[in-house]
Amino acid sequence: MNLFNVYPLYNVTPVKAKGCHLWDKDNQKYLDLYGGHGVISIGHTHIDYVAKLKSQIDKMGFYSNSIQNPLQVELAQKLGVISNCENYNLFLCNSGAEANENALKLASFKTGKKKIIAFKNSFHGRTSAAVAATDNLNINAPLNQQQEVVFLPLNNIELVRQELQNNDVCAVIIEGIQGVGGLDEGTTIFFQELQSICNDNNVVFIVDEIQSGYGRSGKFFAFQHHNIQPDIITVAKGMGNGFPIGGVLISENIEAKYGMLGTTFGGNHLACVAAISVLNVIEKEDLITNVNEVSAYFLDKIKQIPQIKKVKGKGLMLGIEFDFEVSEIRKKLIFEKYIFTGGASNKNLLRILPPLSVTKQNMDTFIKALKELI
Ligand SMILES: Cc1ncc(COP(=O)(O)O)c(C=O)c1O
Repeated sequence: MNLFNVYPLYNVTPVKAKGCHLWDKDNQKYLDLYGGHGVISIGHTHIDYVAKLKSQIDKMGFYSNSIQNPLQVELAQKLGVISNCENYNLFLCNSGAEANENALKLASFKTGKKKIIAFKNSFHGRTSAAVAATDNLNINAPLNQQQEVVFLPLNNIELVRQELQNNDVCAVIIEGIQGVGGLDEGTTIFFQELQSICNDNNVVFIVDEIQSGYGRSGKFFAFQHHNIQPDIITVAKGMGNGFPIGGVLISENIEAKYGMLGTTFGGNHLACVAAISVLNVIEKEDLITNVNEVSAYFLDKIKQIPQIKKVKGKGLMLGIEFDFEVSEIRKKLIFEKYIFTGGASNKNLLRILPPLSVTKQNMDTFIKALKELI
């Protein structure tokens, strides 16, 4: 059997990883400034994380959601405290798309409505409603196009207000900072107005923190830069540092009912242990402070490269915009400088999503490589 060929691949085969580095099968070392699409939060194969997972798998890897699992309770409590979202309830699932799918479903259950407001250039995943709320027709099959979704430009509250007039909207969904779309974000006033307009119209306000959450923006959640409290927050990626896990943080005004949501694998013992370990390390190593320090250092240093038009994003969720396409530079960064970076739907944007433990020295290596290549 062959693999279903949906991914264009770089010809590189990492076989080992530690911290912010990967090694390929020929033992060539690479600097990882992309974390496999923003997944690696505490660093590859972190010693505490590996030890916790190994010890759990020796005890028990999985049982279904029909038994008591104290690890889920421990994870929810820890996440509530660290993220300052103690008055939310947590539903655990397996991926970002699944988190958004469940968030949208909850919004529809709560309001009895089905239209979604999303934003231009949004990316929310590839399942039914999540992909319909993703502003990319190429990845929407006719089946997905049955959903009622309207895409509005960011930062135009008037258009949101107009769209709410028919009283048929269940949810507004917005990324804390847009990832795949190219690092655009709502202004503080826009986020605040969205929250209040949703409250006034009985619409569920969902913030997708799947990429921007878990400290990446320099606060635990990117929306916390705007002093708001969404009805639902979705998380995945950095949550498990590579172990598949997603979560939906649900405010107390949305009531749970038995059977309303469910999953076989979500919240399994191994996933919980991975996610608990991530939170412990974020706290113990004060990684959010590191994000802010390394980000400030990098943003200052990168000014030395005049070909850069703009740097977008916050913390260690950054897009470096050039006035030319970056695909060649990305290839050269991998094959000549041994550095992984990412792209975006804006072809001129080089995206970096390093582990939150990246150092100033790692950033110096990147800037030197960029200078040499440009
Ligand atoms: C903002 C955002 N939402 C949702 C998703 C989907 O997550 P997953 O690929 O885990 O389904 C992604 C993935 O890139 C994302 O960046």
